[in-house]
Amino acid sequence: MSPLFFLVVLAYATLYAFAFTIPSFSSFSYISRYLSFNPTQLQQKPLQLETLTAWLEREENVALDKLLANIGPRGRNGRDAAPGSIIASPSREHPNYFYQWVRDAAITISTLVNLYTEDPFSNLSYGLSEILDQYASLQYKLQHTENPSGNFDNLEGLGEPKFEADGSPFISSWGRPQRDGPALRAIALMSYLRAYNASHPLLWTSDAAESWFSPLYKAELPANSIIKADLEYVSHFWNQTGFDLWEEVEGLHFFTAMVQYRALREGADLALAFGDAGAADWYKQQAGSLAGFIRRFWDQEKGHLVETLESDRSGLDCGLLLGSIHGFPSPELNHEPLYPPFSDEILVSLLAFILDQRNRFPINAAPPGTTEIPSPLSGTGLGRYPEDDYDGYGITPAGGNPWFLCTSSAAEIFYRTVSHLLASKTLTVTTLSLPFYSALLSSTSFVPQADKIYNSSDALFYEVIEQLKTTGDSFIEVMKNHADTDGALSEQFDRVTGFERGARDLTWSYGAFLQAVWARRDVV
Ligand code: NOJ
Ligand code: NOJ
Repeated sequence: MSPLFFLVVLAYATLYAFAFTIPSFSSFSYISRYLSFNPTQLQQKPLQLETLTAWLEREENVALDKLLANIGPRGRNGRDAAPGSIIASPSREHPNYFYQWVRDAAITISTLVNLYTEDPFSNLSYGLSEILDQYASLQYKLQHTENPSGNFDNLEGLGEPKFEADGSPFISSWGRPQRDGPALRAIALMSYLRAYNASHPLLWTSDAAESWFSPLYKAELPANSIIKADLEYVSHFWNQTGFDLWEEVEGLHFFTAMVQYRALREGADLALAFGDAGAADWYKQQAGSLAGFIRRFWDQEKGHLVETLESDRSGLDCGLLLGSIHGFPSPELNHEPLYPPFSDEILVSLLAFILDQRNRFPINAAPPGTTEIPSPLSGTGLGRYPEDDYDGYGITPAGGNPWFLCTSSAAEIFYRTVSHLLASKTLTVTTLSLPFYSALLSSTSFVPQADKIYNSSDALFYEVIEQLKTTGDSFIEVMKNHADTDGALSEQFDRVTGFERGARDLTWSYGAFLQAVWARRDVV
């Protein structure tokens, strides 16, 4: 195994640490202050007057505090949950989300690893590493828990989407298996392994190395280490159907495939570092096949990506945005990304999705009396997908609602596109991306042209960056307008009244918000 690999990781981790600053642990209030509201109220939620900057500063602390509150056993909502268990929401009825979903938990852990990486020796990181270690131990236990999807020996049990908060299996009927979970968990734990190793450079060659690393990764088959078991699962099951991230349709899904692809590529690098050359080749080979498969999600006729192959749905789906975000390779690894946030395919799919959601939800209409025509891309509450009929409590003919985590992921796509343009210093407008950039610039006097490369000597290049930032902010502004006064974020906000609905204090809503704010910090 090459010490060079870890030196490179260390260097990147240090650079990354300076990319953004973290709020201090002491600033979080541990007093829970939930405002009650009546979700059936028909009065429209009044606009919040606080400036975006002031709200962002406040909300960042609130979001982290409320996210940590949902982690057992120390979080104030997690006292009944197993150590390291991340509950989806403290809501125990109407709806009951007091479970640990493998997906929600892994995504939350990735967010916490980002925080840890910034300053591994802060007070905050001290608490975080306890959570990360407990999470890892609990995942080993969950992997070995026989459940309705299968067991550990045939690996099928790793596709189980959710467990009771105490770690016992959830045995009622559910949309299972869901094959994104093991990939997301492997991604989260690989990031932690790299970050921890980078901050403890002597560990790798010390006597303690074996006891720290081998529960996470060990070059042996059958796999018993957590990450390797997940990588084995992903590499053997990615071409089989399963339920989508919304737990409703069985098939082959973009989000699932994107995170599986990332897991296998990062897994190949990790395997190599652990001297597991045969596994590295196998993961790489499967990743290669998966890359070809993922291209099938581009629908030439529709002109956008689709979330599920051979589905009756339109295919426009927040899962496309999430797949692009969570499938994006860890920056320190220098992997070539597939359908990254700034790709033509993601941007035109985002445009089509925004236009659909804009007209679908009354809350997205311009306030009465507004004369200015908003840019086609400006701040819109985004839901999961057009055909959604889950209202946060049950199924309703009225249809779904906007979700905080989907609205937030659009903002993140805009900010990450800015980062990419700043780094690459050029913008290539193609026939494919022209509609996106035309919409983006429609309120300005700039007219983009297809098959043209703009660079830092073109005024249009800067205008695109400006508009991307403003548009990202306009999506955050929507979150701000529909958040509770104390900063609480639930799962959804009502399509008509704008009031929060669905599971309160959704862990994933807070994590998605934090990721968007950090992406914004890179560019503002
Ligand atoms: C709960 C699931 O988690 C959600 O994704 C789904 O839409 C509803 N049940 C309705 O089936
Ligand atoms: C329903 C969502 O559709 C699903 O993605 C999520 O995992 C669960 N709720 C828990 O938050």
